[in-house]
Amino acid sequence: MRILSWRLILALTIGLSLVSLASSWYEIRAQRDALRRDLDSKAEVVGESLAGSAQLYLATGDRAGLEKSVDSSGNSEHLVGVGIYGRDDSALVITPGLNASLPVLTQLLKNAMQDNRNISVFTDLRFRRVHVLAAPLHATDKTVIGGILVVHDSGYIGSEIFRIWGRVFVRMAIQVIVIVGITLLIIRWSLTGPIARVAVWIRALRTGQDAVRPVATDLDVLYSLAGEVGPLAESMQRARAAAETEAGLRNANESQWTAERLADYVRNRLGKSSLFVVSNREPYIHSRRDNIVTVTVPASGLVTAIGPILCACNGTWIAHGSGDADAEMVDAHDRLKVPPEEPRYTLRRVWLSREQEEGYYYGFANEGLWPLCHIAHTRPIFRASDWEHYYAVNRKFADALIEEIAGEENPVVLIQDYHFALLPRMLKDRLPNARVAIFWHIPWPTPEAFEICPWQRELLDGLLGADLIGFHVRAHCNNFLYTVDRILESRVDWEHFSVKRKDHLTSVQPFPISVELPCDIPEARSNLTAQEERSALFAELGIEATFLGIGVDRVDYTKGILERFQAVECFLERYPSYQGKFTFIQIGAPSRTRIKRYADFQLEVEAEASRINARFKHGRWRPIVFLNRQHNRHELEHYYRAAHVCMVTSLHDGMNLVAKEYIAARQDERGVLILSRFTGAARELHDAIIVNPYDISATGESIAQALKMDSEEMVERMRHMRRSVKEHNIYWWAASLIGALCDVRLEQKGDANSAAPDYVSGVR
Ligand code: G6P
Repeated sequence: MRILSWRLILALTIGLSLVSLASSWYEIRAQRDALRRDLDSKAEVVGESLAGSAQLYLATGDRAGLEKSVDSSGNSEHLVGVGIYGRDDSALVITPGLNASLPVLTQLLKNAMQDNRNISVFTDLRFRRVHVLAAPLHATDKTVIGGILVVHDSGYIGSEIFRIWGRVFVRMAIQVIVIVGITLLIIRWSLTGPIARVAVWIRALRTGQDAVRPVATDLDVLYSLAGEVGPLAESMQRARAAAETEAGLRNANESQWTAERLADYVRNRLGKSSLFVVSNREPYIHSRRDNIVTVTVPASGLVTAIGPILCACNGTWIAHGSGDADAEMVDAHDRLKVPPEEPRYTLRRVWLSREQEEGYYYGFANEGLWPLCHIAHTRPIFRASDWEHYYAVNRKFADALIEEIAGEENPVVLIQDYHFALLPRMLKDRLPNARVAIFWHIPWPTPEAFEICPWQRELLDGLLGADLIGFHVRAHCNNFLYTVDRILESRVDWEHFSVKRKDHLTSVQPFPISVELPCDIPEARSNLTAQEERSALFAELGIEATFLGIGVDRVDYTKGILERFQAVECFLERYPSYQGKFTFIQIGAPSRTRIKRYADFQLEVEAEASRINARFKHGRWRPIVFLNRQHNRHELEHYYRAAHVCMVTSLHDGMNLVAKEYIAARQDERGVLILSRFTGAARELHDAIIVNPYDISATGESIAQALKMDSEEMVERMRHMRRSVKEHNIYWWAASLIGALCDVRLEQKGDANSAAPDYVSGVR
């Protein structure tokens, strides 16, 4: 910076001086010329006034008149002297100040008389700068009868010009000092200051000290760096936290899965193979609002789970491009790098027509398979046209996958969910070398329930194209195997949980999905206490309350939102002392609203909240707040940290990651989780208060139990659950799944009948 400052000072000084000198030089020259012209005309006036008397004297001999005229001309400013000469150069009258014999003057006089014209020159006369006017004198017939010399001292012009230059230099110096000073101040305020503060921040991060992030204006000045420095600092913080946690766990003889460990594990297991993920829902949706493109992360457990894996492994994610500005963001191959703030992997977007989306996504997947697999008493709807679209879209994704996979020898493909039951078979038929797994994120029903689907055989056959099928819990694996056993020609191996069909072996295993649990380090903690977070949220919502319960869901009839509201009502009825004190905030992200059942359900939820509010509310307190919009991860964290109790009361759910997100957010080891026994999460989180959401009264009672729980028990329960989520986090899930997939292939090559692996043993 010091060198930059000196360079700047030098450059500004030279530049400003040159500009100033050039413009002053022209100005001063004009001034000098004006002064000279002025002196010239003054000499002319003196000369002309003397010429009349001189000519009279030469014609009439009036010497007294001539001398009088010469004397009176002596008053002219700066006049050195005048001289009147005859035709033979003889001096007639000379003023005392003039040395008439000087050859310069006599020569000028001669020339003037000879050429019969006025001569006006600036010259040096005995070390003195003078102006000389030499002019001829005429008789009445215009003949030259003599001459006249007028000499002025012109030295004052030089002095004047010198004074002006002096002023110019002073002005120039002031200008240079002011401009250089201002520039140095701006550099200090806007550049060196912020850089120094950012450097202190980065140094603190590097050395692991308490680091206060510089203010936005500091980072703004470094706009091109800010986008990099922020994430870099956060990555460093995460890496250090992960390393510290790992070190801590190593000491305790344990080992936690982190993004770095997963990346390393997957690299080792995959060797030169690349990872491809397929899902319907894309991880980033670009939309245009008021001519501005914004990016959102959709409310989806699947997206929450898969994002970190792709970030860790730098693979390719193929998904439906559903945003209205999605097409603007991709390259010629429909690809773009994401996450937008720190690109780590490739997103390949697949485009669907309106009819395809209606039939495949809204129709077959969400009006057919979704209610078929969830026991939530909504009747599945199966239309032949939806099935055709479902088939065609699966085929379309198979084509896109084949394009992306081109050139890969042994690709590894993880297909996600019920939107793609046919894809494993379609892919395996065309790419036998690909290792293919499909993970079914929703429950699998009993064979009797599944049998109502008109395309049951096709769906099962499509799925059994995979090498590995994953469910969240063992019970869903069992349901699947029973279903296959009952419907298809195949051999189910109950000992190793696999199916052999047409010489192809498919392993069926549980992989309980999870979340990323932020490392338990001071930097990752909120600055606010739960109490402060609560007060801030209540103030923001304009309500008054003391106790806070929350629910976070897509507005979906499987989530048990109505039953949850009724449980809150029942609780307030039974424990009136909580009226005016307990508020339940339901965050409900609108979902699949083009399906009538969902649109109706949304209205039912609103109506139920209004009914209960109308019954109890008073003053600024309300029993239920329904926030019917999507909230981002950061916003949700506030609610999680503030809530006394989180209610996850799904009527049926594959896993439910909200339960685990709540636990992950509670670094303070406070808060109580009320969890439906019909979620996959209930199989792991035994320290939650487990409820049957259909039992409204018991669920209401569980709210009271949660609010009255003594803090020792609360901490103990939360600590257990946090340990479970920490050990079995999202990276553990991904490592288990990918590890099991690699194992399945290897064993199949050697011995098709060999045992399916125990996924857990591979990654412990
Ligand atoms: C469930 C499904 C996911 C799906 C998510 C959101 O969690 O298992 O596959 O992404 O719901 O639903 P949406 O239809 O909005 O993708």
